[in-house]
Amino acid sequence: MKVSVIGLGYLGATHAVAMAELGHEVVGLEPDPKKLEALKAGVLPFHEPGLDEALSRVLKTGKITFQAEHNHHSASADLHFICVGTPQRSGSDAADTSYVMAAAKALAPHLRPDAVVAGKSTVPVGTATELQKVMTEITGFDVNLAWNPEFLREGTALEDSLRPDRIVVGAWNEHSVEVIKAAYAPILNLGTPFLVLDVPTAELVKVAANAFLATKISFINAMAEVAEVSGADAVSLAKAIGYDERIGNKFLRTGIGFGGGCLPKDIRGFMARAEELGVGSAVEFLKDVDAINLRRRDKVVALAKSELGDVRGKRVTMLGISFKPDSDDLRDSPALEIAQRLSREGAEVTVHDPVSLSALAEKEPALGREADLVEAVREADLVILGTEWKQYKDADPHALGAVVANKTVIDGRNVLDVAAWQSAGWKVIALGRSIQNG
Ligand code: UDX
Repeated sequence: MKVSVIGLGYLGATHAVAMAELGHEVVGLEPDPKKLEALKAGVLPFHEPGLDEALSRVLKTGKITFQAEHNHHSASADLHFICVGTPQRSGSDAADTSYVMAAAKALAPHLRPDAVVAGKSTVPVGTATELQKVMTEITGFDVNLAWNPEFLREGTALEDSLRPDRIVVGAWNEHSVEVIKAAYAPILNLGTPFLVLDVPTAELVKVAANAFLATKISFINAMAEVAEVSGADAVSLAKAIGYDERIGNKFLRTGIGFGGGCLPKDIRGFMARAEELGVGSAVEFLKDVDAINLRRRDKVVALAKSELGDVRGKRVTMLGISFKPDSDDLRDSPALEIAQRLSREGAEVTVHDPVSLSALAEKEPALGREADLVEAVREADLVILGTEWKQYKDADPHALGAVVANKTVIDGRNVLDVAAWQSAGWKVIALGRSIQNG
């Protein structure tokens, strides 16, 4: 099949490569000249394990090409995927759907009547109906629009795209379903569940899934707040409740909470949309989910202050700055916010991160950066683990302890081997736990 992928951010770039890996002829569209040139040269504009190799592979086969705008080439596609971003609107909680609308309007004049448009972006319920109307007005025929949400996670994006746990399609006609089904045929042949839904449900599936995941994380972080004042241990608590299959042990890792380009803005966008629909109270609990999540950042800042006293001039090392490991994404990163707040209050903050230091230099040049782990903690008065990169879990507490000014670590992700760090002389402070330090 010939497919176009419109918008080549995390979602679009991964999807375009995945479609080419499945054997389709793919044309990727991206208006940002920097991103476009990078992709044409086989360079990903972000860090995603395995995706750069896959990109080089499909570029070599000629299965994928990139361009800035629609032309006869993209117009000949059987299926167009809209993958542009829906960021949080500035000054509001609502999702900004203007890029999705612009993508649909730019595509419409080039559409063949039998072509199918599949929206993959995370949108407020009702967006597809609006897009369908606008595109139909432009083309003069009933556009085959469907919604096909994407559930990929950063860090495992390609694997999630090629081996998803389900494929969801919301469509108004059978033709759209058949074309999308054909595009995913190699994945469906592996036995992947294929769910055909109505369009509003398909739009809702994505935000509902993200709201549920965010709620799970905030639930265990709420338990952490209780544990912290009652001498209980939220890590053991999560393990104990997770054995109940109805609860499950995934997404119950307590720590500094969720960030990234999806969960925070999706729960806010969901609340804003529910409010518009007159059912704001149905998802009002997400306000608490958001607040619990943000309170974890306050907690770390408070713990740092109680350890350091006056933070001015104190040296703090932040281990990990991306919102999660295996990603250089700094959007709404809890570690970044904590580092920024301590720096604003006068601490000398040095950041270590295996892949995100250049992204950090662009976003927050005021923070110190050090690529060598031992050098990063040298003379530190306090070390904070902000992202659970494997190299921090594996780090030798003796080697790090030999160069710091003060052996105190706040484990913001509950991944350190407490006994090993303590026996190397460290005071270990962790969220949701009452650790006795000798
Ligand atoms: C999320 C959804 O998981 C994915 O299905 C959707 O398509 C996009 O949004 P992603 O943003 O890549 O994916 O990250 P995810 O793995 O969900 O983690 C989100 C945040 O929650 C990270 O900051 C992570 O550190 C945090 N987290 C996750 C926890 O604090 N505890 C957990 O138990 C799990």
